[in-house]
Amino acid sequence: MTLTSLVSYPDRGQGGRSEFRGNCSPRLVQDLIEHYKPKLFYDPAIGSGTSRDVAQSMNVPGFFSDLAQGYNVLESEPPYTGFDMAFWHPPYWNIIQYSGPGGQWGGAGNPGDLSLIQDYGEFIKALNEATFRIYETLKRGGRLAVLVGDVRRKGVLYPIQRDMRWYGTPDAFIVKAQHNMVSSRTAYNGNFVAIVTEYLVVTKKADAWIVPLRVTEAKQTDTRKWSGATWQNLVRAGLEFLGGEAELPALYECLQEHRRVQESSQKGVDWQAIVRRELQTRPHFRNVDRGRWCLVQPA
Ligand SMILES: C[S@@+](CC[C@H](N)C(=O)[O-])C[C@H]1O[C@@H](n2cnc3c(N)ncnc32)[C@H](O)[C@@H]1O
Repeated sequence: MTLTSLVSYPDRGQGGRSEFRGNCSPRLVQDLIEHYKPKLFYDPAIGSGTSRDVAQSMNVPGFFSDLAQGYNVLESEPPYTGFDMAFWHPPYWNIIQYSGPGGQWGGAGNPGDLSLIQDYGEFIKALNEATFRIYETLKRGGRLAVLVGDVRRKGVLYPIQRDMRWYGTPDAFIVKAQHNMVSSRTAYNGNFVAIVTEYLVVTKKADAWIVPLRVTEAKQTDTRKWSGATWQNLVRAGLEFLGGEAELPALYECLQEHRRVQESSQKGVDWQAIVRRELQTRPHFRNVDRGRWCLVQPA
């Protein structure tokens, strides 16, 4: 099959174990191997053995292991490096626990187990560290394929594919439909968009030393420091900030901190007149009393 940026494998295929939670379709690995034709393959977290089984059936040698076999990607080293392709299918944060009581392979909790990290930021840090260790094992021109799914916890979306670092030159971003997940059988109350896809991020190691890096920065920004707001949105945000209704002097006082207002003021523009014009002409503002305005739903 030709590999495209959208894949779906309702029929899982042969290899690994479908009962192993978080397993992936052998067909995905098969498509990757058919497309990139690696001579040497690496998977440091094989879980039920999907990639190993597929690579073996396609006569592609390599190194395949997992924390369950004592191989901690954050500390261990493969016996040789210079792989053409590495497949990295990390845990879905702590959604499916692997080691420890109740985990997929049980036993004692393993401190190296990424699925035991409870703090999301710490998980992303460990994921990045592991991803770079895997990237380093590639030969120049080799591909790293990272399969990750986003997670929703207590209604909050954690977009792992967006928050993790991308090491290497982006080569493909493949959206994969998820099938037969336990979470898809969970009754959602309809408030949230159910996650039914995951992503395969394929990057290329183009240089021995220089690594193109994509890093996401999540931060809160106070847009009052920006000058780009339109007057309509500025007035609406001011009214929202004041609880949906306000006297004009309170609205002026609230808005005077805004960069757009300050710049207008410095140029001698009568910005208060602009605010009044917005209030009088837009359908989502209503005059409730003399000098008092509120937000309404436009008809
Ligand atoms: C999503 S599963 C991989 C599933 C696999 N692709 C399959 O089809 O069965 C994630 C795997 O990461 C492993 N793992 C977690 N932390 C690890 C670490 N530090 N080093 C190596 N493997 C780790 C877990 O044991 C688990 O098998």
